[in-house]
Amino acid sequence: MRLCIVAAVCTHPLDLTKVRMQTIPSVPGQKRPSTVSVLRMTVAEQGFRSLYAGLTASLLRQMSYSLVRLGSYEEMKSRLSRDGPPSSGKLLLAAMAAGGLGGIAGNPADILLVRMTSDSIRPPDKRYNYSNAISGLVQLIRSEGARGLFRGLETNTVRAVLMNGSQVWSYDLFKSWFLRHQLPIVNFQFRDNLALHMVASTLAGTVATTVCSPADVLRSRLMSASGKSNPIEVLTTSLRGEGPRFLFKGWTPAFIRLGPNTIFMFVFLEQLKKGWRTLFPVN
Ligand SMILES: *[C@@H]1O[C@H](CO)[C@@H](O)[C@H](O)[C@H]1NC(C)=O
Ligand SMILES: *[C@@H]1O[C@H](CO)[C@@H](O)[C@H](O)[C@H]1NC(C)=O
Repeated sequence: MRLCIVAAVCTHPLDLTKVRMQTIPSVPGQKRPSTVSVLRMTVAEQGFRSLYAGLTASLLRQMSYSLVRLGSYEEMKSRLSRDGPPSSGKLLLAAMAAGGLGGIAGNPADILLVRMTSDSIRPPDKRYNYSNAISGLVQLIRSEGARGLFRGLETNTVRAVLMNGSQVWSYDLFKSWFLRHQLPIVNFQFRDNLALHMVASTLAGTVATTVCSPADVLRSRLMSASGKSNPIEVLTTSLRGEGPRFLFKGWTPAFIRLGPNTIFMFVFLEQLKKGWRTLFPVN
């Protein structure tokens, strides 16, 4: 849990930059703001403190998402383990179900995060003025009802599933390709070691960021709006106004945020596999 809080504090400025880039509509003929210019604009507002606007929503998000995900996974695992160790397929299903439950639990905090991080770039009469995540939650329910808590849930779920699928799938693909092929020009042959895991996971992170970006941008826009809105409507109006490139807004901060995460995840996974094999060798 403490690790989750540290993670929230470290990644918050990146999340803030990403949401701002995703929700500022492009003006035709004008250059799209880059990651650096959005960061600079944010700091110019109120100094470095404004990089942490909406931090309480990040913390609430970590708590609700991580707590439900880890808690329900442990619960399912212990139920599955009643008659002997469960198969890895069952554990994978449990992990996916837990991820889904975590996503639902984290959705309200995601809405607050999107709104609070981009509040100061909205026109004053469209601002939400949430002072912290808890009072924001109360205001959200008061003005939009309990249904308001699930705004953007569809795109959030699509994003989570795409994220997992594309990461795992492309990691395996890159890894097996590098094991079978030499790198051209430098004639370098990878072996199954840490260097390969790093390269394959960096590439997998790139693929995952790109694949998830459209769902992520739509999610941010749905959550940031307070009126009635549906994903298809937001998609078509944004496409008409800004062209297909809007679907990849905020790619850079999303990649920076996901990159280290992905690398850590796979390097850890490989070490785990190795440890497993030493403990339980296959004959
Ligand atoms: C994604 O994968 C991780 C690790 O395998 C798992 O813990 C998580 O629950 C999954 N999430 C979804 C939404 O499938
Ligand atoms: C937020 O504050 C601004 C003035 O700073 C005001 O114009 C706006 O109506 C407020 N929004 C809400 C939802 O209270």
